[in-house]
Amino acid sequence: MAAQMVSAKAGPLSGRARAPGDKSISHRALMLGALAVGESTVEGLLEGEDVLRTARAMRQLGALVERLESGRWRLYGRGVGGLAEPDDVLDMGNAGTGARLLMGLVATHGFTTFLTGDASLRSRPMRRVAEPLGRMGAVITARSGVRLPLAVTGTATPTPLAWDLTVPSAQVKSAILLAGLNVAGETTVIEPQPTRDHTELMLRHFGADLRVESTAGGGRVVSVTGYPELTGRHVTVPADPSSAAFPAVAALIVPGSEIVLEGVGCNRLRFGLYETLAEMGAEIELRNRRDQAGEPVADLVIRHGALTGVDVPAARAPSMIDEYPILAIAAALARGTTRMRGLAELKVKESDRLAAMAEGLAACGVRVEVRGDDLIVHGDGRPPEGGATIRTNLDHRIAMAFLVLGMVAERPVAIDDGQPIATSFPGFAALMNGLGATITEPDEVAG
Ligand code: S3P
Repeated sequence: MAAQMVSAKAGPLSGRARAPGDKSISHRALMLGALAVGESTVEGLLEGEDVLRTARAMRQLGALVERLESGRWRLYGRGVGGLAEPDDVLDMGNAGTGARLLMGLVATHGFTTFLTGDASLRSRPMRRVAEPLGRMGAVITARSGVRLPLAVTGTATPTPLAWDLTVPSAQVKSAILLAGLNVAGETTVIEPQPTRDHTELMLRHFGADLRVESTAGGGRVVSVTGYPELTGRHVTVPADPSSAAFPAVAALIVPGSEIVLEGVGCNRLRFGLYETLAEMGAEIELRNRRDQAGEPVADLVIRHGALTGVDVPAARAPSMIDEYPILAIAAALARGTTRMRGLAELKVKESDRLAAMAEGLAACGVRVEVRGDDLIVHGDGRPPEGGATIRTNLDHRIAMAFLVLGMVAERPVAIDDGQPIATSFPGFAALMNGLGATITEPDEVAG
């Protein structure tokens, strides 16, 4: 059932908060814990809908996966190549990462797995994963457009692969590397632009043999050697920089704010938004830098300040691909024009985010243009009019971005459905309200 939410002008934000666990790392921790021999424990796991789908899927594939207490989970894995045929469809809900990485995992197991998802996931392209996995020997039977629902009939005699990524996608890279775990010899992915390397870091953490080389053009060649002995490990999941981005931008644009966001993952391949905000003039301080299970982490101190429009190069997209919706909100409050280049991939996320941001911003009175794959936002340094109800199309990040806009707009901003927020950021409204936001849900509005 859809749940409308409304966000109204907020006073200065203040206080400390911890964004939920990193979604990318949480999926991977569950998958590798389910493959590793012996006990793995996870702390700080994101208990959002997407990750819970992966937890359920790993159980369906035969691993023991238990929740001990909030964010603390324990797994007993089956060993590389030891997953069991699920006796029912894996319903991955809204989770693109869960679906694509799992397709890779099961592609080199000799059984058939059926996958489906919600309306958003069933509309997303799967050819990019199906094609390389097919080359390895898996047979993927999908409906038109190579979309979910689909069946992966894994191969027991896979062929090692060297694959050039045509789109910069960590999900495709990860699906191939995970498939490569159960292949004799080396499986290689060549990426023209480096994408998030959580799979590589976590594979190493669990004991896999991995080679990573840089190419002359700035890309990477990643190779995994098959049949590694993965052994149970402890994983501490950092707070998700993509989720922290919402309170961070809120603090930057609500006058008088100063907040601290604790334990945020600051992997360089995920940090493009923060780099861009700094170029726009934002004051973001990284304190108490440390390392957790191979991932860098810091506390972010963020203060309100004037922002200036910038040109965001296409080459930065892989390091901030999920952050364009909230960057567009920051851009609407900045003085001058922000041009975000090369956003073709935004069209195939949980929704067409390029169209959603352009439509939603225009409805709130912001001057915005789409030229080719670029999103151009003209800010005049003043709060936009607001007063619109935004269609979110099952997209959590569109929902959260516009709730942040409501915190500064002249009139409240509503979203038609806040339910999908729970896929990545359960407790979003409570966390934001704890910092000083005024986000309400319909029954509260009615009451
Ligand atoms: C993710 C990779 C990105 C990102 C997604 C999470 C991952 O997708 O948008 O939210 O965990 O590997 P693509 O690989 O499609 O760019």
